[in-house]
Amino acid sequence: MLVLGGGSNLILVDDIPGLVILNRLQGITVKADADDPAKVCVTAAAGENWHDFVRYTLESGAYGLENLSLIPGTVGAAPMQNIGAYGIEIKDRMLSLRALDRETGELCEFTTEACEFGYRDSIFKQRAAGRYIITEVTFMLSRKCQPVLAYAGLADHFAGLGIESPDGLQVSDYICQVRRAKLPDPADIGNAGSFFKNPVVSAARREAILKDYPDLVSFADGDGYKLAAGWLIDRLGWKGRSQGDAGVYDKQALVLVNHGAASGADILRLAGAIQEDVFSHFNVRLEIEPRTFPQ
Ligand code: EPU
Repeated sequence: MLVLGGGSNLILVDDIPGLVILNRLQGITVKADADDPAKVCVTAAAGENWHDFVRYTLESGAYGLENLSLIPGTVGAAPMQNIGAYGIEIKDRMLSLRALDRETGELCEFTTEACEFGYRDSIFKQRAAGRYIITEVTFMLSRKCQPVLAYAGLADHFAGLGIESPDGLQVSDYICQVRRAKLPDPADIGNAGSFFKNPVVSAARREAILKDYPDLVSFADGDGYKLAAGWLIDRLGWKGRSQGDAGVYDKQALVLVNHGAASGADILRLAGAIQEDVFSHFNVRLEIEPRTFPQ
């Protein structure tokens, strides 16, 4: 059985030998926080479209999800991979979720901590894979917008416009603009967003790469460094290249696209060639981010 949200983070490698459930549970409730008037608790059913939900919260004066605007998919799919963009991950705003346990038939509640969130990761992708169907997600949002603008370029953009503290809708509009410029819309051209996770390597590995490639893009991450996988792929000349209808997007090397009739297997073949090339030049293993089905 396969439960689908928007289907935008999925590589189908074969026909599905079973039942496919399209989760279209609808409904949003907004509740004032009894203890803190500055906070607001928003619950959305899993089948709500993620971006429409984000805009709804902002238009209702509930702030905190603006940096996650225009991410494809549904509310229920968002915690599966702890969606993240422009300095925020869903775990930073989530309070809890409800899910149907397929083993017991019971509805159960997960706190944010119980979801075991990591970078593009959660319990639902790991040891509980396939067990739960997420039915609704609750977020703790703020009545006052506290914009998070640390990600490259965001603060400069608003400073350039003379806006010291943008409101949530202004941040959301700009994030949409940036995403539209860099990332293909899955409604126009098949893609699953970033195809690889940004790899985390040791300081020693990063130093070794820097000797040959001083312009490597990397960020401190825990004890190691997160490397920009898009940069590694781009540096090896893959941006805009194709194998048949499977291609590397010409504006962002981390995104693989389907130019027409590529199968899931064609996309995975291209991904494999990129992984091999990156490994042989940088000694870094790239991990595929979207889900492949059947595995
Ligand atoms: N870069 C290149 N060439 C490229 C692509 C990127 O040199 O072709 C360099 C950029 O110049 C930049 C760095 O790599 O210095 C990082 O690029 P970018 O800011 O576009 O972010 P990313 O690391 O490629 C990650 C997420 C995106 C998210 C953005 C913004 C992952 C796997 N991807 O991309 O998430 O939108 O940051 O926060 O972490 C997704 O998960 O599907 C996704 C789109």
